[in-house]
Amino acid sequence: MRLVIFGPPGAGKGTQAGLLEQRHGIAQISTGDILREAMDQETDLGQKAKSYIEAGELVPDKLVRQLAEQAIADEDYDDFMLDGYPRTEQQAEWLTEFLTAHETPLDAVVSLEVPDDELVRRLSRRRVHAETGETYHLDHDPPPEDVDPDLIVQRSDDQPETIRNRLAVYRDETAPLASYYEDRSLLVSVDGTGGIEEVFGRIEEVLEARAHRG
Ligand code: AP5
Repeated sequence: MRLVIFGPPGAGKGTQAGLLEQRHGIAQISTGDILREAMDQETDLGQKAKSYIEAGELVPDKLVRQLAEQAIADEDYDDFMLDGYPRTEQQAEWLTEFLTAHETPLDAVVSLEVPDDELVRRLSRRRVHAETGETYHLDHDPPPEDVDPDLIVQRSDDQPETIRNRLAVYRDETAPLASYYEDRSLLVSVDGTGGIEEVFGRIEEVLEARAHRG
């Protein structure tokens, strides 16, 4: 399947895409993870992206376009799930053109619906493993006891002021893409509240219904 997982910061896109990869072999392509890796390695791309990410702003379209398209090509244009791309109308147009040119259109855009106050709770209590990038939540999914606590860190863009800005940027620039995909009959909304497994079960259900629809 060719999927996009869509939703605001903290909606659980990375968590759910990770589970889809583990359990259904659908490769997770996270532009956020690719950019953070580039930042850690201090590549040219990482240096260009750093100030945008740390301010909670979007990285310019043309910088992310190439890395998303390359990652899709690396998966041979199938069995992938885009997590965090597209995020602007320009990126959505480019993605449609790119996939159309390869005759590999999207099967669905899964939109995770979570209220703002829950998003803030999730992001402010999120922690990540500094070396593996594994994501945890201090209340719902705490790091295992055998993990060195010094390696459990907070993402630089998970500070309260930056979280507020990321949510505002999402509302202004990314949320309108829901209608873009609704108009193309690709959008499937999923209630993203409740436990991680509960949400995963709902995603499996809608994807199964979609697959049977043909
Ligand atoms: P990115 O890394 O994509 O961040 P984001 O979209 O803001 O999303 P998050 O990773 O914060 O949240 P998520 O929805 O994946 O939630 P998660 O599963 O971690 O992008 C970062 C930055 O990179 C952007 O701000 C931008 O600057 C740049 N960027 C990336 N792509 C770009 C693009 N295409 N164009 C331009 N710029 C781009 O879950 C969050 C927390 O909640 C975790 O702690 C998790 O354990 C917990 N949790 C998850 N599900 C549940 C649940 N059901 N119940 C309780 N807790 C849960």
